[in-house]
Amino acid sequence: MSLLIKNGRIITADADYVADIFIDGEIIHTIGKNLPVNADEIIDATGKLVFPGGIDPHVHLDMPFMGTFSSDNYETGTRAALFGGTTMVIDFILQKQGNSLHAALDEWRGRSDGNCVGDYSFHIAVTDFNDNTKKEIKDFIEKEGITSFKTFMAYKGALMIDDRQMIGLMEEVKQHGGLINVHATNGDMIDYLIAKHRAEGKLSPLYHYLSQPEVTEAEAAERFVDMSNYTGCPGYIVHLTCEGALNAVRNATKRNQKTFVETCIQYLILDASLYEKDLPTGQAGFEGAKWVMSPPLRQKKDQETLWAGINQGLVQVVATDHCPFMWEQKKMGEKDFSKIPNGHPAIENRMELLFSEGVVKNRITLNKYVEVACTNPAKIFGMFPRKGTIAPGTDADIVIFDPHEKHVLSAKTHHMNVDYSGYEGWEMTGKVKTVLLRGQVAINDGKCLLQKGYGKFIRRNKVSAIV
Ligand code: URP
Ligand code: ZN
Ligand code: ZN
Repeated sequence: MSLLIKNGRIITADADYVADIFIDGEIIHTIGKNLPVNADEIIDATGKLVFPGGIDPHVHLDMPFMGTFSSDNYETGTRAALFGGTTMVIDFILQKQGNSLHAALDEWRGRSDGNCVGDYSFHIAVTDFNDNTKKEIKDFIEKEGITSFKTFMAYKGALMIDDRQMIGLMEEVKQHGGLINVHATNGDMIDYLIAKHRAEGKLSPLYHYLSQPEVTEAEAAERFVDMSNYTGCPGYIVHLTCEGALNAVRNATKRNQKTFVETCIQYLILDASLYEKDLPTGQAGFEGAKWVMSPPLRQKKDQETLWAGINQGLVQVVATDHCPFMWEQKKMGEKDFSKIPNGHPAIENRMELLFSEGVVKNRITLNKYVEVACTNPAKIFGMFPRKGTIAPGTDADIVIFDPHEKHVLSAKTHHMNVDYSGYEGWEMTGKVKTVLLRGQVAINDGKCLLQKGYGKFIRRNKVSAIV
């Protein structure tokens, strides 16, 4: 099967030109002007932008968490991702404390194998680093193609590890060519503040936010960066939200250190005023539960910091931390904010929101857009150039995008398995029209043409702090 995309404006992280793309099977074969080829299928992309498929390196599908499971499974989640122009996701396996990493991998494979529509990989979250776990690290990197190890400095009593375990893990991961991802917030401080607010009867979603002030993130980011510097292990801070945390990374650059930083689309465009959304009489309501995630939404000044951080090259990735829960599930915490499952849905919205709020509003360039949404995730996580760009020899993961089409986001029309949208009624400029995954038309005319099982597990290469 061959396919010709004619006359699109191709945008990569470092180029912007009009040409044809000839695809043979799963791979881009040739790119050039007026290509003299016969193809089985031709797509006219005149007037459209042509991006590499988006890569969202931070999603939680069908994940057991806080007494329930995230509501998108591997089929619904990767399909919704494709509708939004994201052709590959990296999901998180969680080790159970007391069990091995391989046991967790088997459990996650049981839910994901044969069920993905789009391509995927895993990070493995190490929640219990001990002598046995240590022996598994090399195997994950060299045999399984899973080269990134997630750590939680928060969720005390559940997923959190201490600094002793962190240092041990970093030394092992560094030795074998992997990378540490971190949820960098101070779990002890947060645990104290949650208990304090509960004891005072402060139980609404607003107190989720007030239990995780900026200092909890700034402190942990600095500690993580210091440990990464000491061990020499490459580090990647997930879902960084605020000025204080980014400044910890910025300060470390003065001693020539490089730490990768991911923010998420919600931290760029939403702010903490949403936690007070329905406070008519000074009494906090439950509406804010839609945005109960960790870390919480921050202030406007933090949004400015993050946009600037992207343009300064300090923030390399915009992900989602997609972790959806139905409203009924959110209501588990109706009487106590600490029981609201943490997370929000965005896997389908990231590429369009970042375009509409970032490119259209002149906050980032088109090249930067591709860099943070497609190319850097592929580079940092060991998949470049197979994924993350448009060039001969690479996977034909391609998004054809109308930069002018207006539309409105709504739970009524999205494809995520969740019954609300954190962006209900948002007016957007720019729409994903056609998506190709490894040479196959995945999305066209508002329909998904691929079945579950098409999505492939992508083995990743060793990584370093240099991309
Ligand atoms: O609220 C969030 N972020 N839920 C998912 C788990 C995590 O911390 O990434
Ligand atoms: Zn997290
Ligand atoms: Zn997450």
